[in-house]
Amino acid sequence: MYLLIMGAPGAGKGTQAKLISEKYNIPHISSGDIFRQEIKEQSKEGKLAQEYISQGKLVPDDLTISIISKRLQKEDCNHGFLLDGFPRTIKQAQDLDILLAKLKIKLTLVLNLVVNPERIVNRLSQRRVCLKCGATYNLKTNPPKKAGICDKCGEAIVLREDDKEETVKTRLDVYQTQTKPLVKYYNEQKILINIDGDLGIKDTFKEIVKILGDVNGNN
Ligand code: AP5
Ligand code: MG
Repeated sequence: MYLLIMGAPGAGKGTQAKLISEKYNIPHISSGDIFRQEIKEQSKEGKLAQEYISQGKLVPDDLTISIISKRLQKEDCNHGFLLDGFPRTIKQAQDLDILLAKLKIKLTLVLNLVVNPERIVNRLSQRRVCLKCGATYNLKTNPPKKAGICDKCGEAIVLREDDKEETVKTRLDVYQTQTKPLVKYYNEQKILINIDGDLGIKDTFKEIVKILGDVNGNN
């Protein structure tokens, strides 16, 4: 299955993507996670991306496309993948179409997580992430077993730099103007399906499994 998960900041893309990736054994490719790793390593790309990410703006298309293009050509993507957070502009979507055509891959489905915007700021202020293994928590809806510590790798969990209220507002504006047009783009390709992201984490995942079970011929 070649999947894409989209939705506003804080819609639950990363949370659902991790569950889907484990259940269906396909790599979870998050452009945001890749950028955060590059920032941690202070690579050339990371330093460039950091300027934009810390302000809640999109990283320029050229850099984003080149990073994702390299990732999608790795061997583990031969039998499927789940893209999270890419594409985010029409230009990125068009370039992805060109790349996939070269690789002779067709997107199976685009899962669009739809969330009440009022919940987003709240969800993101309560989110804590592990910068070592990428696990995501929520102090209210999905806390770690031991306060402040990642269940998976034992590292301290932190508030993401771009989860400050002002930056979240910019990210939401950027989503409305630059990313939301992709809903129409993929609707026209007849591969988009809306998912209610206001259900709890488990119930949202159940909805997704139902849909993917139909596509895959089993659950
Ligand atoms: P990215 O890392 O992709 O951030 P985002 O799109 O803003 O989305 P988030 O990761 O904040 O939210 P999410 O939908 O993954 O929600 P989560 O599952 O964590 O991008 C960051 C930045 O990188 C961008 O701003 C940009 O600068 C740059 N970038 C990335 N890709 C780019 C691209 N293609 N082009 C250009 N620039 C790019 O959940 C959120 C919280 O809610 C968690 O606490 C979670 O536990 C909780 N939660 C989740 N689901 C539920 C639920 N159903 N019920 C209750 N709580 C829930
Ligand atoms: Mg995410």
